[in-house]
Amino acid sequence: MKILVTGGLGYIGSHTVVALQEKGYEVIIVDNLSNTTLDVLEGITRISGKTPEFHKIDIRNKSELSSFFDKHQDISGVIHFAAFKAVGESVQKPLDYYENNVAALVYLLREMTKLDHPKLIFSSSCTVYGQAEKLPITEDAPVQQANSPYGNTKQIDEEVIQDHIKSGADLQAISLRYFNPIGAHPTALIGELPIGIPQNLVPYVTQTAAGKRKELSVWGNDYPTEDGTCIRDYIHVMDLAEVHVIALEKLLEKGYDQAYDVFNVGTGHGNSVLDVVKTFEEVNQLKLAYKIAERRPGDVVAAYADTTKAETGLGWKAKRTMGDALKDAWHWETKQK
Ligand code: NAD
Ligand code: WQD
Repeated sequence: MKILVTGGLGYIGSHTVVALQEKGYEVIIVDNLSNTTLDVLEGITRISGKTPEFHKIDIRNKSELSSFFDKHQDISGVIHFAAFKAVGESVQKPLDYYENNVAALVYLLREMTKLDHPKLIFSSSCTVYGQAEKLPITEDAPVQQANSPYGNTKQIDEEVIQDHIKSGADLQAISLRYFNPIGAHPTALIGELPIGIPQNLVPYVTQTAAGKRKELSVWGNDYPTEDGTCIRDYIHVMDLAEVHVIALEKLLEKGYDQAYDVFNVGTGHGNSVLDVVKTFEEVNQLKLAYKIAERRPGDVVAAYADTTKAETGLGWKAKRTMGDALKDAWHWETKQK
């Protein structure tokens, strides 16, 4: 079966491509290389021994996307990762975010009508919940006013997909709301490639340990949590990759007739920023330079997933620990220039 992976050379996409190949799927990648390089294709090939078909296409380009779908009507499923993802940048360039994350999804959905019984897995985010009132967060927790244009694009995207289905479109879709993906493939042949100064915690931690950054700033230690730092649900990117394959297989299952569903994808465990620092030091046997700094505006205090729905509905549970992920993240960092 042929599976189209948009953004398949990106961080989560590349790991998912490997997970799909392991299960015997033929993968076609569409990526415009705006946030990655062709080295990732090489990394995927070295892991799996198979080079996926690759098309350098910008999905905002309607005519290129259309001729791609004209030639690939035998695609059995689409996993859509291609998007911009920097929260801060989205405040500076909202139109770029709405164009790439919302308009391009509309183009993709239109093109997917050329497929026979199209299936879609969509990359959503726990950011749609904002600061949830109850923890752990279940899928029926209310979606709250987004903190950024980026967060808003994910909320709108989920609605676009649902409205399209409600209109009678022949589409089955699952949105996966990721918590905080971290880590890399254990071979360190693929991983996260932050451009410039990392905004996310784990790349900042690994770059500090590698001497590329002076010290980590822990954004606030006066939150109402046990050690005063924020709590998140850090999930190994390989666990995240594997759930995409499982969700896709659900959609492809004979007799599965649900048009739309949404699942939280996390480990179910909350860890503080200082837990991450401590675990990173322990599993990698090194010391990390850090200081306590002011709170970062817009941070929620605590977010971690209730994973019951993914466990019962998909039969999936994260297998790897945060320590595994922090070991793999460090292994990946040591391979970078
Ligand atoms: P990434 O930037 O590493 O991957 C996205 C890929 O899409 C890149 O390779 C980029 O070159 C490509 N791309 C972007 N715009 C494109 C376009 N117009 N046409 C073709 N290709 C294009 O990001 P990621 O961390 O792998 O995230 C993947 C998806 O998961 C995104 O939709 C993101 O919003 C979502 N997500 C990410 C996180 C996270 O923390 N990383 C959390 C929740 C949701
Ligand atoms: C984690 C924790 C920081 C950096 C973001 C997006 C979200 C989703 C995932 C896409 C927080 C603290 C961080 C640093 C720190 N992406 N921190 N020092 O903010 O939970 O989520 O990525 O959908 O939409 O907002 O992740 O890795 O930035 O931060 O103390 O240098 O680490 O305050 O508590 P976040 P993060």
